[in-house]
Amino acid sequence: MRVSRMFSAAVLCAALAGCGKADRVDELMSRMTVEEKIGQLNLLPGGDITTGAVKNSPLAERIKAGQLGAVLNVKGADKIRELQRVAVEESRMGIPLLFGQDVIHGYETVFPLPFAQACSWDTALVRESAEVAAFEASATGINWVYSPMVDVNNDPRWGRASEGAGEDPYLAGEMGAAMIRGYQGDWGERNVMACMKHYALYGASESGRDYNMVDMSHVRMYNQYFASYKRCVEEGAGSVMTSFNLVDGIPATGNKWLVDDVLRKEWGFGGFVVTDYGSIGEMQVHGVGDPQSNSDQALKAGTDMDMCSEAYTAWLKKSLDEGRITMAEIDAACRRVLEAKEKLGLLDDPYRFCHAEREKTDLYSDASRATARRMATESFVLLKNEGGLLPLNPAGTIALIGPMGDTRNNLPGSWSTGDNVAKYSTLKEVMERRTAGKAKILYAQGSNIYDNEALQTQVEFGRPIARVDKEGALAEAVAAARKSDIVILAIGEMAEMSGECASRSDLTMPDAERDLMEAMVSTGKPVVLLNFSGRPTVMAWEKENIGAIMNVWFAGSETGDAICDVLFGDVCPSGKLVASMPQNVGQLPLYYNHTMTGRPVADGEKDFHKYRSNYMDVRNDALYPFGFGLSYTTFDYSDVKLSKSEMAAGETVTASVRVTNTGGRDADEVVQMYVRDLSASIARPVKELKGFRRIHLKAGESQTVEFTIGGEQLAFYNHDLERVVEPGDFDIMTGPDSQRLSSARLTVTK
Ligand code: BGC
Repeated sequence: MRVSRMFSAAVLCAALAGCGKADRVDELMSRMTVEEKIGQLNLLPGGDITTGAVKNSPLAERIKAGQLGAVLNVKGADKIRELQRVAVEESRMGIPLLFGQDVIHGYETVFPLPFAQACSWDTALVRESAEVAAFEASATGINWVYSPMVDVNNDPRWGRASEGAGEDPYLAGEMGAAMIRGYQGDWGERNVMACMKHYALYGASESGRDYNMVDMSHVRMYNQYFASYKRCVEEGAGSVMTSFNLVDGIPATGNKWLVDDVLRKEWGFGGFVVTDYGSIGEMQVHGVGDPQSNSDQALKAGTDMDMCSEAYTAWLKKSLDEGRITMAEIDAACRRVLEAKEKLGLLDDPYRFCHAEREKTDLYSDASRATARRMATESFVLLKNEGGLLPLNPAGTIALIGPMGDTRNNLPGSWSTGDNVAKYSTLKEVMERRTAGKAKILYAQGSNIYDNEALQTQVEFGRPIARVDKEGALAEAVAAARKSDIVILAIGEMAEMSGECASRSDLTMPDAERDLMEAMVSTGKPVVLLNFSGRPTVMAWEKENIGAIMNVWFAGSETGDAICDVLFGDVCPSGKLVASMPQNVGQLPLYYNHTMTGRPVADGEKDFHKYRSNYMDVRNDALYPFGFGLSYTTFDYSDVKLSKSEMAAGETVTASVRVTNTGGRDADEVVQMYVRDLSASIARPVKELKGFRRIHLKAGESQTVEFTIGGEQLAFYNHDLERVVEPGDFDIMTGPDSQRLSSARLTVTK
């Protein structure tokens, strides 16, 4: 009889009882074979378990044989418990598994896409949202989530713009840190381990095409792309996922400089590193090495766990026997994985996260849904509101037009794990409920998404919207609009038009919806556009022709109520853009924190200038800039004041700005602070966000907002990649967005 049959959780715990934390891992490792250690480095998907039984499944056999350290994408407390039982009771070492899942914006209660959440600039609420996601996921046995994603992105052609926090590294870092706090909390049984991803530079995929190559200078990496990852490491992310792309020509997964030197040695990351899906296997497709050398290279780089390539299980033992890698390298990786299990409490109680009871009561609860609804209302960005069209009086006849007006399965957006879609209310259902007895709602779908059926099927990706006959549907929508006082147009992208492998080369409104939009405008009725999208899109025509525009992104399970909260004025919109919205796709990449060229044109310049850095056919500015968003009230900003205009490096100064709510409604406002270094040793961005504060002001109320400015806000990485504050002049700017700023000069002396 194999020893494994006799092993149980109790035996494991007894064997480890009395051991200190490090000793427990040592004790386990002292008894493990090389193959078992390599097994801990292997992560595979649930596969047939996802729909079938655990018993006798190939996955269960691998677990029994000690060939797996973690599993991803298995759903449900009973299944996870059973797999864990196999690991603990039927494998020789009885080491519990990690159970990972892409819990990206909520679990059963679906929150807005991460990009949309970031538009709230509300780190406290983002943390609370992650807490809810952890609370729900942990009830089902998940103990590890592949979030936050903090890849800075300047090109929204990339569909994964939806998963990050936009174009600013500081903001992305703060959002990632807030999520980590929410997920990991104090590492209790209602928490999960976070996995910060995708390390590194994935958001810089060339041409916005997913999985494409990346190439950039180290100065740019350090100053613009690394900050958000580093911030997550400082926040204590338990694990990190490598990215698919090249960094300096070497796939990130096998890049020793990136993983070992920067992440571990420079930033002090102590957790474990997992590859992205199949990325050791993809090293060869990049044209690098061969399968065995790829596996050696990844291990030597400091990448501990292999997600779905089965490269470590295939090659590491052979490489060890051939002297290509060392036992110390395998041990280091195995130790880091076991330490994570120990930190999660799995070595004490392997079933710590399996709560069949809690799974029945704690998922999609009223309290969690209320948080998701609040998060959704804060994520909407009001871009235009001509003549105060919004908020809407629920009276008369309201035409609700557009394919997003009555869809359920598209509401959660991409990467949603929820099984409760049938319970969500569509926008039409909520509008009818909330205006009952006061207004009449006339609904018409009005159009498809694309006229080309094959293209529409492709973008639906399993979440269809009813196909309609173009002419008939348009005529019906026009008739409904004519009978109404106002048109609410619910159109835009479908859920799967953003997310992984959802790059678009044209970011204007899909053609069938554009025709619908034009038909609505030509009725002469006032039109409010609710723009559904997972990323910044091109809305030049819309800005020109439509009265009110609100970007509602993909707001999750509570979309309908959240939209009505803002539409009818129960909640004042407060979201602000976390990425520039371009005038056309030819401007991309477009981002506010660019460096100055030697031949600039002034911000807001209307004319073309020969021999200056501009286009003949479009101005340089964004259509809507970073940080921009309207409210139903108005805010007045005083000029920024500095507590002193000169300071020595090492001192701090306070910048203050007085903000007054000059309109008629209580509301939240996001106050922003930017810095520009005017005479550094390398060219620095024209401005960089260095502080923000979300405040609440009653109508007529004022508040002075203060920002402390010191080394942290003024430092950058110089050409030698040293973090320095250089003496010289700085502009300190405050205001409601990245364009409407007042500025004061600060001189830093030696
Ligand atoms: C994605 C990751 C994700 C992983 C596991 C990959 O394709 O790039 O973001 O966490 O799959 O599902």
